[in-house]
Amino acid sequence: MSVLSGKKILLGISAGIAAYKAANLVRLFIKSGADVQVVMTPDAKEFVTPLTLSTLSKNPVYSSFYNEEDENAMWNNHVDLGIWADLMIIAPVTANTLSKMANGSCDNLLLATYLSAKCPVYFAPAMDLDMYKHSSTKSSISKLTSYGNICIPATSGELASGLEGEGRLAEPEDILKFIEKDLCSKLPLRGKKILITAGPTYEAIDPVRFIGNHSSGKMGFEMAKAAANLGAEVKLISGPSSQKINHSFVHRIDVTNAEDMYLACHEHYDNVDVAICSAAVADYKPANLSTQKIKKKGSNLTLELIPTKDILASLGAHKKKQLLVGFALETNNERENATEKLKRKNLDLIVLNSLNDHGAGFALDTNKITIIDKNLNLQNFELKSKAAVAKDIIQVVIKELHA
Ligand code: CTP
Repeated sequence: MSVLSGKKILLGISAGIAAYKAANLVRLFIKSGADVQVVMTPDAKEFVTPLTLSTLSKNPVYSSFYNEEDENAMWNNHVDLGIWADLMIIAPVTANTLSKMANGSCDNLLLATYLSAKCPVYFAPAMDLDMYKHSSTKSSISKLTSYGNICIPATSGELASGLEGEGRLAEPEDILKFIEKDLCSKLPLRGKKILITAGPTYEAIDPVRFIGNHSSGKMGFEMAKAAANLGAEVKLISGPSSQKINHSFVHRIDVTNAEDMYLACHEHYDNVDVAICSAAVADYKPANLSTQKIKKKGSNLTLELIPTKDILASLGAHKKKQLLVGFALETNNERENATEKLKRKNLDLIVLNSLNDHGAGFALDTNKITIIDKNLNLQNFELKSKAAVAKDIIQVVIKELHA
């Protein structure tokens, strides 16, 4: 999955022959899972049509402050466009637009939007070689760089003038790669390895029956996604779950029972920076596994159960540098019980769910949590979707890593 997936990208296009390549850029952004809106300078429309760009982006394309042909026209709000965007890329940016951006000119919608944008701004120049070499252009580029904007340098090759040299717009595929690489390098969990357990465990009674629970695994999968989206390399060790995940930073390891989850966790634990145990591990398993299906006999059946290994406690006991996070699902004396677990299992953080909170718990799409740290500081969160709760937990983990 691309780091651009779900990102809101504002593409600015200025009036150069390379503007035709912007159509391909829109396509690549959309294929990466981004939402794209396009804003053009009025003259850019001579090089690539708004119809092409709106068809590819599935959004209206803006090029003026209002539509002059429509007397009921609304003002195209550059501030809203600027606020909407997670990132802005101006490609191609001509010498003229570069200079105006560098000097705060604001005589078209693209420039006004650029000045309003609070997000990271990338710009990819395209012009003839002598224009690109000119001190004035160099000074515009370095001014923009000093504002924190990021230049995607022009490449060398054949130019529209027929001359050969530096000034060609970087190829759309390379622009995409450049932005992906840059965003990845700035992610807060870049270089961090995180182990996450998720889902239930099934403890076999015989070849067809097991002891299990209703855990869906959703919370763990959402945390894996949230951490991976922030650059972490995730080992997701999951019990039987119908949840799906498709992320290049997530390595899913499927296990069935507590013993296999224990072994998988210990295999990877020494290499991780953070371990988050959200699995609803069965606390007991049958003392004897029947190799044949147990036949019903009409009389009562008694199963002897023995405790499974407490994975989280064993990780706590072997903790070196890892930040260790556990979960507690409680029905009474919630804080006291969670705090006791935090201490007993040698955790850094514990995420408490109370079954008394409406909307919290197994198999639901929502959760309401309190996070307690090892200094017994408490953070309460509202009832939220599990995806939003996962992001909250990962943010707290990031803070702890920097503490
Ligand atoms: N856990 C684990 N291995 C187990 C049991 C639990 O790793 N065999 C982890 C869970 O993933 C969770 C935390 O321990 O992060 C809390 O589990 P819970 O079952 O609530 O705690 P217990 O210590 O088993 O206490 P109790 O069942 O009495 O509440």
